[in-house]
Amino acid sequence: MIAPDFSASPLPSLMSLSGRVSVVTGGAGGIGLAIAKRFAEAGSSVVIADLQQSQVDEAAQMLSHTYGVPALGVTTDVRVEQEVIALLDRTVSALGRLDAFVNNAGIYPVRPALEMTADEWDRVHSLNLRGVFIACREAARRMIAGGRGGVILNIASVSGFRGRPGMSAYVASKHGVVGLTKSLAAEWGSEGIRVLGIAPPLVSTPGMAQWQKSERSQTSSGTGPGSVEKLVTANLPLGRIGVPDDIARVALFCASDLSALMTGSTLAVDAGLMCY
Ligand SMILES: NC(=O)c1ccc[n+]([C@@H]2O[C@H](COP(=O)([O-])OP(=O)(O)OC[C@H]3O[C@@H](n4cnc5c(N)ncnc54)[C@H](O)[C@@H]3O)[C@@H](O)[C@H]2O)c1
Repeated sequence: MIAPDFSASPLPSLMSLSGRVSVVTGGAGGIGLAIAKRFAEAGSSVVIADLQQSQVDEAAQMLSHTYGVPALGVTTDVRVEQEVIALLDRTVSALGRLDAFVNNAGIYPVRPALEMTADEWDRVHSLNLRGVFIACREAARRMIAGGRGGVILNIASVSGFRGRPGMSAYVASKHGVVGLTKSLAAEWGSEGIRVLGIAPPLVSTPGMAQWQKSERSQTSSGTGPGSVEKLVTANLPLGRIGVPDDIARVALFCASDLSALMTGSTLAVDAGLMCY
């Protein structure tokens, strides 16, 4: 399948996801929920995959009520292969197709390498890298069966490009996501599947609020208590950390036909952090 040329398409249709079906993992909160909202606003039906039934139902109801699109909540632990397969099966049986899959669910615990057990390493990688791989594979299988291609979007991190004390498992997992994105893009381009990544810096989310409270996060950032955000902001050319919608707008660009000739890249949405 050769990438279509949209030169003659008007801007509103290029930005639209109308008639399409998208899945967002970790979609009940933080960056995932912001992505789900922008996708729904652009007309996509949305499936929210997250850990708890009440969370996914609430998010799905909010999306269909606010944006008037079909939305479905599916309880899914991305670490469990059979649950990811069931998520994709349910998506296609309930909504008829799959156009975009966002691998957003991720954890970012701090643990100095000298204290890290093999089990803790595996816990991070089972979600952040192994889970992402399985979801990519299952999404691609359904996109290929549908014959229309699609977009897989992996939420990486600036930690996919840089090292960071106290976060070796996380950093390694996100470097893995950046590499996986390139490899799968090369493997599935001929099927019309684009695979892209986004690398945020610090984004204010419920998970990040908890992370900042932990004493260990100060060590990882080389700061004292309460000053992680201050230190990061001081190094950002654009002067502030991210809010979830900063990431969601770029996710919409990636999932839409605006980015039709892009695949394999991981876009830094980082307020300029990577300039240094
Ligand atoms: N917030 C940041 O500063 C930041 C920076 C760079 C990258 N990221 C990446 O962005 C993504 C989202 O981060 P966030 O800050 O919005 O996180 P968050 O903790 O605020 O939200 C994550 C969501 O994922 C869900 N989740 C957790 N484990 C899951 C599992 N096993 N299966 C399914 N769902 C699960 C949680 O219930 C939650 O709703 C992560 O991949 C993270 O690594 C975040």
